[in-house]
Amino acid sequence: MTRLGVNVDHIATVRQARLGAEPDPVAAAILAELAGADGIVVHLREDRRHIQDRDVRILRETIRTQLDLEMAATEEMLRIALDVKPEMVTLVPERRQELTTEGGLNVVSSGEELENIIGLLHEGEIIVSLFIDPDPRQIKGAHKISADRIEIHTGPYANSRGTVQKNELHQIMEAAKLASKLGMGVNAGHGLDYMNVAAIGQIPEIEELNIGHSIISRAVLVGMESAVREMKSLIKRN
Ligand code: PXP
Repeated sequence: MTRLGVNVDHIATVRQARLGAEPDPVAAAILAELAGADGIVVHLREDRRHIQDRDVRILRETIRTQLDLEMAATEEMLRIALDVKPEMVTLVPERRQELTTEGGLNVVSSGEELENIIGLLHEGEIIVSLFIDPDPRQIKGAHKISADRIEIHTGPYANSRGTVQKNELHQIMEAAKLASKLGMGVNAGHGLDYMNVAAIGQIPEIEELNIGHSIISRAVLVGMESAVREMKSLIKRN
């Protein structure tokens, strides 16, 4: 069964709108777990626009599934990861002005720098996943620098329709096959919602989906537990 990692960043977005204490992403993470989430994902951004250092520390102590810390490949984030020790780090590209992560890492052009960070995270016994586009060059590059897993960027699939979306889906399927053949684990995420997730959930090589915005948006209206349960039922493989 495909695992569901629930990203609780946008609970923190609401909290930061008033710089107060609620809603607390830690409480949301606990409810998500009770509803069947297989992991909790947070992106600690350099500008701390949503998740704060305190959230990561308390989540580490509180959650019972696994913690996936999304972060840029910087010295500051490396220090935090080695201190907090999440089960998994997902390295992502980060630009200050972007609304959300815009594209995958360029493993081909920044391989050496990423390889060093992967080595140091491995010394801390942390599994490393690289967020990349479904591009064979990036997948081979990720394997070359010893990534344990990749997370396939599903944004272009999620944002397209018709034949273009079919082509994007095909590329994701091929990318998942290639990564798995090379011995890497395969996650996928970005832009997945209740309407577009089913086809991705059926891809046999994809073991985990990381989903945030759509689950939190639905949770605002129907509650965290219903939102997580509904998503879990959609990613069940036939
Ligand atoms: N995966 C990665 C690497 C991301 O950066 C994000 C957004 O933080 C997600 C998954 C979740 O995307 P969404 O919020 O669109 O579900």
